[in-house]
Amino acid sequence: MENRKVVIAGGGVLGTQIGLICAYHGFDTTFWLRSESSIGRTTPKIERYSALMLEDLAKAKALIGNPIGGMLYPRGLIRSWQGITAEAIDALIEEGKKNFAEKVHIELDLAKALSGAYIVIESMTEEPKAKIGMYNAMRDLLDENTILCTNSSTLLPSMFAEYTGRPEKYCALHFANTIWKNNTGEVMGHPGTDPAIYQKVVEFAAAIGMVPLQLHKEQPGYILNSMLVPFLSAAQALWANGVADPETIDLTWRLATSAPAGPFQILDIVGLETAYNINQMKPAAQQEGTLENRMGKLLKEKIDRGETGVNAGKGFYDYTKK
Ligand SMILES: NC(=O)c1ccc[n+]([C@@H]2O[C@H](COP(=O)([O-])OP(=O)(O)OC[C@H]3O[C@@H](n4cnc5c(N)ncnc54)[C@H](O)[C@@H]3O)[C@@H](O)[C@H]2O)c1
Repeated sequence: MENRKVVIAGGGVLGTQIGLICAYHGFDTTFWLRSESSIGRTTPKIERYSALMLEDLAKAKALIGNPIGGMLYPRGLIRSWQGITAEAIDALIEEGKKNFAEKVHIELDLAKALSGAYIVIESMTEEPKAKIGMYNAMRDLLDENTILCTNSSTLLPSMFAEYTGRPEKYCALHFANTIWKNNTGEVMGHPGTDPAIYQKVVEFAAAIGMVPLQLHKEQPGYILNSMLVPFLSAAQALWANGVADPETIDLTWRLATSAPAGPFQILDIVGLETAYNINQMKPAAQQEGTLENRMGKLLKEKIDRGETGVNAGKGFYDYTKK
């Protein structure tokens, strides 16, 4: 890798996690934020997520020797579980602390932030207009060789390539929430992405502890959500049609496939608001009496009661019970 400067545009939930994982793996990381008030919102996230990462590393010590430890350790933070020791994890914690303290920078001046970057990862609000505005502002400030990636979940890179001023150096690198545990790095180019650049993004993803997952063509929802969204919808349809309750649907899935979690346990992790927003995007959700409309109403009732998932302590399951 020619240089190790990474720039993250957007200090939200995912932008913060991406920047921190880059810093943890030794990359000099700059968050570009648009205002002083953005700093006030992003700094607590940086503190929270860096503490969570270090806590999960410390907890991993208790997994050594556990037969399923190899399934539960934070894969984005520990490169190899084979033969890991508590001392090695302690050393990672110390190095992580040092890197978080020394390699994380915040910059409001876009030109200064972008100067000399190896790669810029755009992780801004999922709104085409905001992203286009960002690309227009960046295009004349980027160094010639800088690679530009988007973390967009639902928008395709071909929608934005022309605005970047460097379509051949632009592609998607898509992360999952709780990046340090769920270390997928879906790499997806558009028809104009240079294959050599695509390969560099694959290498970069591996260098920051992700498992690069290569898509050969554009696909809305990438690989993961192309499978996950229909799966979760099918489970919600069984529930909304009164076929079975969430616990039974989950139990069926776990028993029959040996999967550790059923669809409603996954929905609790994803968050019911996200599930509701995805459901409401279907035109049938707006028509009274349809299955999608019933699914939306059931989710909304739970959201209105504050039962939005694991983060709220209650969703389809109660997480406050010991
Ligand atoms: N949340 C997830 O689970 C998840 C997972 C994978 C990918 N993503 C993708 O990551 C991106 C960001 O999502 P998020 O969940 O972090 O969102 P978020 O709402 O937490 O953060 C969005 C960030 O963009 C900034 N922003 C908005 N408009 C801006 C503008 N005009 N100029 C500069 N900054 C601006 C906001 O200040 C905020 O820091 C989206 O493209 C989303 O699809 C999200």
